[in-house]
Amino acid sequence: MNNITNDIYYIGVNDHELDLFEGQYDVPNGMAYNSYIILDEKIAVCDTVDGNFTDQWLGNISEVLGDRKPDYIIVHHMEPDHSANLKNFLDKYPETVVVGNAKTFTMIDNFFEDMNIANKLEVKEGDKLSLGKHELTFVFAPMVHWPEVMFSYDSTDKVLFSADAFGKFGALDVEEDWACEARRYYFGIVGKYGMQVQAVLKKAAALDIKMICALHGPILKENLDYYLGLYNTWSGYGVESEGVFIAYTSVYGNTKKAAELLKDKLEAKGCPKVAIADLAREDMAESVEDAFRYGKLVIATTTYNADIFPFMKHFILDLTERNYQNKTIGIIENGSWAPMAAKVVKGMFEKSKNITWTDTTVSIKSAFKAANIEQIDALAEELMK
Ligand SMILES: [Fe+2]
Ligand SMILES: [Fe+2]
Repeated sequence: MNNITNDIYYIGVNDHELDLFEGQYDVPNGMAYNSYIILDEKIAVCDTVDGNFTDQWLGNISEVLGDRKPDYIIVHHMEPDHSANLKNFLDKYPETVVVGNAKTFTMIDNFFEDMNIANKLEVKEGDKLSLGKHELTFVFAPMVHWPEVMFSYDSTDKVLFSADAFGKFGALDVEEDWACEARRYYFGIVGKYGMQVQAVLKKAAALDIKMICALHGPILKENLDYYLGLYNTWSGYGVESEGVFIAYTSVYGNTKKAAELLKDKLEAKGCPKVAIADLAREDMAESVEDAFRYGKLVIATTTYNADIFPFMKHFILDLTERNYQNKTIGIIENGSWAPMAAKVVKGMFEKSKNITWTDTTVSIKSAFKAANIEQIDALAEELMK
């Protein structure tokens, strides 16, 4: 049995079969759906797991509980990767009290047609639930990243159950860096809701937290300031790493050549980090996280159908719908007969807050020529300021 404190047990599962998380995110190292049991005078189960793991999860519960029955099932988040087994759970343990807020219960009705909840406890922000030795306080986290999301805080073990916040891609039986996959997860899934994350971080700051138990990814128990600090930077749309991210699309390699020359020039000038990605070939969510990570972004793209190349369009929409802001952006455009890319790109960021455009826009007509080198020099110089 897998206990993480004297009374709290891990009963989650690892998924290595999944092709795309939430229908769009590549998860090369799989995914973990976390679930927990607090064993006290009263027993609380925190969340269920994905619908493909019913038997394994119910088995994990039996292994911890033996013949005892859970008193509460706490629903921190209704997205199906966590709630899919609610009905299966209640079929097995029909007396268990379902704990959620008003929005949770509306969503249960939306997701399940014939759910028969015998006992429910509707909680409000700040409500407490005593299990005996442990007392849980409910901390609402609306729109992090769904409206019904709530955290709970166990003041006995000083554990924060944080729903999807502080989660990451990757199963728990694979060792990998936390920040890279947590950042890709954060900006992909939660990125739009920075303001709401900031609000819940303020509430969390008032709590004495020794451990964070998220619904995905490892349990965080050391150096919590590191994780809280990153969440503060990410949700504040701040600069995490000094450097430049160059995102490009290229049809015949001319735009690529320009993007790579800019990278070389920035590095020669001592730029602390230059990340570069071919948007047609690299993971889009990885490029999205890099755009948010660095303070400076260069967009290098072709004019295409009097618009811009489709992968770049997709990329920019991913940024703007996630409230991309507070960054410096430079453009390298390429167009053979009527270059439009710079104009289209600027238009796409029109509603974004606090974007600084570089004075230099590199404009290539078809092939990359000697005259463009000067422009690239000027752009590199500006980005180094
Ligand atoms: Fe979620
Ligand atoms: Fe989730």
